Amino acid sequence: MQFHFSSDLPSGARLVAYPVPQGKLPDTLEPVLREGAAAGRFTGKAGELIAGFVERDGAVRQVALVGIGELGHEGRAADLEKAGGALVTKYLTSGQTELVLDLTGSGLSAPDVASLLMGVRLRAWRYDKYRTKLKDEAKPTLTGVTVVGASGAEEAWSRASAVAEGVELARELVTEPANVIYPESFVERVSARFAGTEAELVVLDEAQMTELGMGALLGVGQGSVRESRVLAIRWNGNPQGGAPTALIGKGVTFDTGGISLKPGAGMEDMKWDMGGSAAVVGAMLALVKRRAKANVVGVVGLVENMPDGNAQRPGDVVTSMNGQTIEVINTDAEGRLVLADVMHWAQQEFSPARMVDFATLTGAMIIALGHEHGGLFANDDKLAEDLLAAGRASGDKLWRFPLSPAYDKLIDSPIADIKNVGPRQAGSITAAQFLQRFVSEGTPWAHCDIAGMVWADKPGATHDKGATGYGVRLIDQFVRDTLES
Ligand code: BES
Ligand code: MN
Ligand code: ZN
Repeated sequence: MQFHFSSDLPSGARLVAYPVPQGKLPDTLEPVLREGAAAGRFTGKAGELIAGFVERDGAVRQVALVGIGELGHEGRAADLEKAGGALVTKYLTSGQTELVLDLTGSGLSAPDVASLLMGVRLRAWRYDKYRTKLKDEAKPTLTGVTVVGASGAEEAWSRASAVAEGVELARELVTEPANVIYPESFVERVSARFAGTEAELVVLDEAQMTELGMGALLGVGQGSVRESRVLAIRWNGNPQGGAPTALIGKGVTFDTGGISLKPGAGMEDMKWDMGGSAAVVGAMLALVKRRAKANVVGVVGLVENMPDGNAQRPGDVVTSMNGQTIEVINTDAEGRLVLADVMHWAQQEFSPARMVDFATLTGAMIIALGHEHGGLFANDDKLAEDLLAAGRASGDKLWRFPLSPAYDKLIDSPIADIKNVGPRQAGSITAAQFLQRFVSEGTPWAHCDIAGMVWADKPGATHDKGATGYGVRLIDQFVRDTLES
């Protein structure tokens, strides 16, 4: 989708949309539209849409009124995004190729305009690469948006489009099947997107990981013919900014469960078990593209969890990079094994000021929170508050859960330092406790269990069914509000 800003209405525009605040139908509109809106009970609630036709300069024009809700409240950005999304739902495959958004006299601020356009761009994203038989009428036709009367918003939009690019990269990686995106191809695909930027990329292969002693991560990957990888992406946007913030991502490119094999039904979902790493690399792309004034390093652990003859067995004991031994009770609790080594390596390599990990870690998280919030766990209240606030502001919402020594005790092992699963109860919390054992003393750390957020079974305001890109905007907002200000 191409976005252009223009000071006047292009002559011959065939489709023009007007954002309408709740209860504030502009009186400059043709009476037929005003009456049509009233008759259609259109009030301007966020996302409400009414489509009509008018005659202008002797030609019939298609016109849309889209509700943007109440002005000046906390959910404002979300309302505007919803409005942008509603326009796309209506017109993406309508046959129209260009949408003119007439914002003249709308009074929308630059961030408001950026939110509206963000809704348009994100809701329009789809991945048709593997559809060879799409009927013409099902193909997107809308390719451009001309924004009239909002030239002051160009800079805000250029920042927002960097974030959109990050969300789109995350969605792409999550959507691709596991025969296409596996550890090595993930690294290739992502590296290509950072080519020509000032980000520094580091890749660890299996020989290097063996050398480093990453027995926990390598144990997960050993039942797969695909080689494991670690990818680090470093962005130093603030020379005076001190130690970086480390973002860690779980990148299990497919999770069969390993020898503790998952049931067959629904197993295809486990192609998106790399959603945490997609969020991290997507966010890094956003930060790099908008040249964030912050020091951030993204580190993702990439493995495929398969059950071949060389796979690790339940009961195996592996040694992690920080020297702790782990009894692998269940080979399906693999994400925490991958994160343990990646988190330790990131701390040793980058001495981060704080560390936040993103992982589709437990099915129990979906039972607890459904698909509305990601679960947040933290050893530091300030970091937790900052992340919760970024969640509210960005729409990628989080909800905090507890950590405590009583939960931690549940993963003591009779034979090793720790076991990789506790009892069924509090499964998301014991998973977080496991990770905490790999956080060095004094490092503020937060864990986001995003198992319920990466993939949507139904369309939302800013996404279709499928990959959501959850986490990218959360991270971008967190960096903006706590590292850049
Ligand atoms: N990737 C899964 C968690 C998951 C399940 C995410 C369903 C999204 C949807 C993770 O590796 C896993 O298998 N966790 C186990 C942990 C258990 C063995 C303690 C789970 O949640 O069942
Ligand atoms: Mn698993
Ligand atoms: Zn998993």
